[in-house]
Amino acid sequence: MNQKEHWEKVYQDKSPNEVSWYKPHLNLSLDLIVKFAASKDVKIIDVGGGASTLADDLLLEGYTHLIVLDISSEAIQKSKERLGERADEVTWIETDILRVDFPQNSFDLWHDRAAFHFLTKPDERKMYIKALAGSLKPGGFLIIASFSLEGPLKCSGLDVMRYSSETLSQELGNDFLFLESINERHQTPSGTLQEFIYCIFKKALNYSWKDERYDYLDWPLRRRNLALS
Ligand SMILES: C[S@@+](CC[C@H](N)C(=O)[O-])C[C@H]1O[C@@H](n2cnc3c(N)ncnc32)[C@H](O)[C@@H]1O
Repeated sequence: MNQKEHWEKVYQDKSPNEVSWYKPHLNLSLDLIVKFAASKDVKIIDVGGGASTLADDLLLEGYTHLIVLDISSEAIQKSKERLGERADEVTWIETDILRVDFPQNSFDLWHDRAAFHFLTKPDERKMYIKALAGSLKPGGFLIIASFSLEGPLKCSGLDVMRYSSETLSQELGNDFLFLESINERHQTPSGTLQEFIYCIFKKALNYSWKDERYDYLDWPLRRRNLALS
């Protein structure tokens, strides 16, 4: 089963409030977005947004440029149904984050709760960071939540990476300036406790597209290869 099939099945088999990562409201994410988003019209992308209610809460807060990206059409459909007419106020993108080709400087704020940590292969993380680094505006903010070093080894039956603020900083490289981290103990619907860490970074103002660490030149080739595999 490939990644997309896995996630479609998860959202077909379980209702949004049965999955282990469910929270009625992503309050910490919401607080951090409110803290770091400079105004209500900044462009905010939620990567791997799933069927969470973050978009609903951001709409209620008055944010007007919201993008929710997820590999699962089922997850997106569930969010759209929950939001009803308000779903039209959100841009929904059903794709694998590893296959995106966003224009430069597309977003002011990138949020990811529990999607990046599924990237267990260094090449996948490199591709994710390429997409992030290319499309987040200089001076833009990254809010990324993953299992902490004390968190579980698996989520949704898949292996995950666990991070500290130091290891996440190393992964992202010098163009992302670490601002702060917050630990959260998440209680799953079945009562298990999971340790998360939320890290906030700011993309450097003098970020250079020509940074060879990201070898942008072979990005289209990699995407083609991925599409074939
Ligand atoms: C653990 S869930 C977290 C959902 C949501 N962020 C939350 O906190 O409630 C991970 C989400 O990432 C999505 N996902 C996993 N791999 C992805 C990928 N490569 N590209 C886009 N979305 C992905 C899954 O479909 C799922 O909705």
